[in-house]
Amino acid sequence: MTVVVSGIRPTGNLHLGNYFGALKSFIRMQEENQCFFFIADYHSLTTHPTPADLHGNVKNVLVEFLACGLDPEKATLYIQSDLPETAELYLLLNMNAYVGELERCTSFKEKIRQQPQNVNAGLLTYPTLMAADIIIHRAHKVPVGKDQEQHLEMTRTFANRFNRLYHVDYFPEPVAYTFEENLVKMPGLDGSLKMSKSENENSAIFLADPPEVIRKKVMRAVTDAGPTEMNQPKPQAIENLFTLMKTLSAPETFAHFSNLYDTCQIRYGDMKKQLSEDVILFTETFREKIRELHANNAYLKKVVALGAEKAHASAQKTIREVREIIGFKSF
Ligand code: ADP
Ligand code: TRP
Repeated sequence: MTVVVSGIRPTGNLHLGNYFGALKSFIRMQEENQCFFFIADYHSLTTHPTPADLHGNVKNVLVEFLACGLDPEKATLYIQSDLPETAELYLLLNMNAYVGELERCTSFKEKIRQQPQNVNAGLLTYPTLMAADIIIHRAHKVPVGKDQEQHLEMTRTFANRFNRLYHVDYFPEPVAYTFEENLVKMPGLDGSLKMSKSENENSAIFLADPPEVIRKKVMRAVTDAGPTEMNQPKPQAIENLFTLMKTLSAPETFAHFSNLYDTCQIRYGDMKKQLSEDVILFTETFREKIRELHANNAYLKKVVALGAEKAHASAQKTIREVREIIGFKSF
């Protein structure tokens, strides 16, 4: 069976873009593959979060992934720091990762620019930790976006280097699990092409947003003075509202407002009112589940323990074999 691994950064709440872009495909993947999804809390230490923020963010991500339908029985859902085998493999891989190649990594250069006051060794070796995450389960596929392709390429380099160095054919070469092309890209409420919390928090509708917040955000979405000629193409910000409506509202609603636009009769206020009610309806079950799960620590504890147990079984085998290959043999 194909082994799939993906790491999720614990950086705050999930928005509709994350849901349509990543989560829906994870949920589909868990049906047909042996999936390992983990919350990358070791990785997040490169930015020095406070203990309270770190724990809160891990819990949020866990709760929201579960609320969206990730099934801890089908997939292995675990917390990265619950699997110290990853840290051991990271140490071993670092011995064959060269400073020059790590320094050339685009994300490292970007981080130097973003946080010049904190260029720590964890940032430099981020790709070896990510490689360890992936090959600890001897994964075949990694669902990642364009921005992670270079990291995946480095993972292949490290895996191949290990195989070559020790004359073994132990680690498979992980390839990208491409799902992004055929998915809806959720646009932002600010007229941008992509809903994104890191670019502009106000562009995003979060799964946990209460109805009054959703109403406020949608009503404030960027629009213009309206069309003056029939059947004209829509400016980006308007196109965005229609894309949201097409994804979340009933087809008749979308057709109704498209027609009003094409005939220059559209009133954006009315459209936004309808859209916000449809968003509220769509997110209702998520909001409900998120609230329930947040209050159910006993269940979360069980989920985390089950994830750790399943991840351990896979990782311990790898580490045992890797130690043997390297020459850490028992007396
Ligand atoms: P953000 O841009 O809000 O910081 P992340 O980079 O944390 O989002 O995204 C995590 C995952 O969600 C990635 O797989 C990314 O491709 C997906 N994703 C994020 N925003 C969108 C969007 N607007 N549309 C589709 N997918 C998205
Ligand atoms: N680097 C990934 C990101 O920024 C997160 C991540 C860490 C990851 N380890 C991974 C993704 C292993 C896939 C596989 O989104």
